[in-house]
Amino acid sequence: EQIKKGNYDHFMQKEIHEQPHSLTTTMRGRLRDKSVVLGGLKDHLKTIRHSRRIIFVGCGTSYNAALAARPFLEELSGIPVTMELASDLLDRKGPIYREDTAVFVSQSGETADTLLALEYALSNGALCVGITNTVGSTLARKTHCGVHINAGCEIGVASTKAYTSQIVVITIMALAIGADSISTQSRRESIINSLSDLPDKVREVLRLDNEMKDLAESLMQMQSLLIFGRGYNYATALEGALKVKEVALTHSEGMLAGEMKHGPLALVDETLPIIVIATRDACFSQQQSVIQQLHARKGRLIVMCSSGDAASVCSGGSCRLIEVPLVADCLQPVINIIPLQLLAYHLTVLRGYDVDQPRNLAKSVTTQ
Ligand code: AGP
Repeated sequence: EQIKKGNYDHFMQKEIHEQPHSLTTTMRGRLRDKSVVLGGLKDHLKTIRHSRRIIFVGCGTSYNAALAARPFLEELSGIPVTMELASDLLDRKGPIYREDTAVFVSQSGETADTLLALEYALSNGALCVGITNTVGSTLARKTHCGVHINAGCEIGVASTKAYTSQIVVITIMALAIGADSISTQSRRESIINSLSDLPDKVREVLRLDNEMKDLAESLMQMQSLLIFGRGYNYATALEGALKVKEVALTHSEGMLAGEMKHGPLALVDETLPIIVIATRDACFSQQQSVIQQLHARKGRLIVMCSSGDAASVCSGGSCRLIEVPLVADCLQPVINIIPLQLLAYHLTVLRGYDVDQPRNLAKSVTTQ
């Protein structure tokens, strides 16, 4: 086991730091100069393009990855994309039709809720696509077609490198689905370029490791942590909070920043730490205004912003900053989750909890 951990103390730590490499293997052979290749989908792209709806189905981190990639898939496909937590789809027996494409996302490919939802979608006649890290898994075998994320074996119960690889694979899938549109050609080409640069940007953001350890030390005594995101980074808020909950055993909620005024604002005081994700994208000015409102209520703010943006995000009061490299808007969630993974990791170590095997949890939830 020690050999597999290499120079790292824990698998979660190793898997966080492996991401420049895992993302490289995820993209290997799939990016051309101006186009993408996904062998597992090529015979089904026409059917997907003619779908009435694309439905993402998953649990936990896999659901969050699909949520992060949804805006770009909607943009490039022009098809409505809806999100389903597998257990909720099953509880509701939500309508699924022959004209739908249902995309099942699962690191293990063995999650019971996701597999039961797959059976349900198959019986309703939808085209079923699998996105998994596990070759030969039940999900890979039972779907009509799919893509392996090729992130390499993930051992820590907290999913880290699979999350970023899932986002990248769904982004490449969106590029493949949108490949016949002339109007989005330059946007597609610029995202393909950004994908090639992504492993280097991930290397850069991993240098925040010590800073995140310091931040974890300052948050050691907290009872609760809120994370506000929106747009591409709503998923980052949910996923960051999930990491803090599951390994640091600390209450944390990821929230849509646009909902802040509709209730969560009442929680704000000088003690509750709040992380606001305010990297540059189309939602930036709305996030600036969220920060101002939190300052006005004397919130204890930690702002994640693009490098060099400190003055634009933190003018109205004091706040701690997490400065991250700027990448293309739809890939920013890959960068932004990494400081939060590091934060959750360091909080867990400082609190003395089991990093790789948190209490009550299993890597793969194979019972309902
Ligand atoms: C992630 O850190 C969790 N361990 C959990 O939410 C997980 O993502 C979920 O159980 C789904 O697993 P899967 O991707 O293997 O289907």
